[in-house]
This record gives sequence, structure tokens and C-alpha cells, in this order.
Amino acid sequence: MIHEKMEKAINDQINWELFSAYLYFSMAAYFDSVNLKGFSGWMMVQTMEEQAHTKKFYDYLTSRGGRVQLSEIKAPAFKWDSPLAAFENALEHEQIVTGRINDLVDLSIELKDHATNSFLKWYVDEQVEEEETAVRLIQSLKLNENNPGGIFMIEKELTQMTIVPTTGSKL
Ligand SMILES: [Fe+2]
Ligand SMILES: [Fe+2]
Repeated sequence: MIHEKMEKAINDQINWELFSAYLYFSMAAYFDSVNLKGFSGWMMVQTMEEQAHTKKFYDYLTSRGGRVQLSEIKAPAFKWDSPLAAFENALEHEQIVTGRINDLVDLSIELKDHATNSFLKWYVDEQVEEEETAVRLIQSLKLNENNPGGIFMIEKELTQMTIVPTTGSKL
């Protein structure tokens, strides 16, 4: 059986993963509203990835005899000043998530919960990728700030990128 402190911490993280999905879903809607379909599609894929992260926690907690308990998800922002502002918000959000994953790892060490410690390694690595992608896109957007065609170039690049949710867990 999983320790009840860890059960609670994973349930809190499930709420955060769902909020991440919600945030990117809202960003997708924002990009659709300004007719940036490539960015919108990319955000939809992020939404699916966050749902897959949620499901992976769900499966793990259940397999350890824990009980998934859902709580209220706060409303995400509705609009952003620019694509750059949205991606800066995404990076800021991912940095918070990274901090939370690190706190979960600390708790697993404190509780000597080696199974959860091992399970969390996947998320530690995933967060490196998530932050790297956001940083890269922010850099591209900044580089193209004064180039009117730049945003469409980045859009095209995003549309061509094949991103598949990488958790290995089925949605
Ligand atoms: Fe996530
Ligand atoms: Fe994420």
C-alpha cells in the first residue's frame, strides 16, 4: 500500500496535470481566435500529452492500492497579448510543474518509497524536454519579432513536427 502522504501528493499532482491540459486547451482556443492554426494544433497536442501524464499517475496510484480523488480545477487564462506572451506563460507554468515533480521526488526519499521514486524518474526527464521545447519556441519568436513572415514560418515548422504523447500509457 502506498503511504497516505504520497497518495495525497499524487492526487494533487493529478489536479496539476489536468490544469496543465486545461491551460493548453485555452491557449489552443486563443490561437484559433487569432487564426494561428499551427500554434493551435500544437497546443492541442500539448493538451493530449498532459492528459496522458494524468493517466500515467492514475494508473500508478491505482496499481499501488491508492485511490484517485479528483478536485476542482481552476480556470485558466482566457487570452494572451501575443504568441510570445502565451509561450512565456507556458514556460513559467512548466517551471512550476518541474518544482512540483521535484517535491514529489523529495517526498519519496523522505518516505523511503523506492517504487514511487523510480516511477517519478520518467517525469523528471519529461520536464527537461517540456522546458527545453518552450525555451526554444520563445527564442524563435523573439528572433522573429521584427520579421512579419517569421511567425508563419514558425507555424509551418510546428505543423510539420510530429509530436506523439510519449508516456507509453493509453489514453
Ligand atoms: Fe505534465
Ligand atoms: Fe507539461
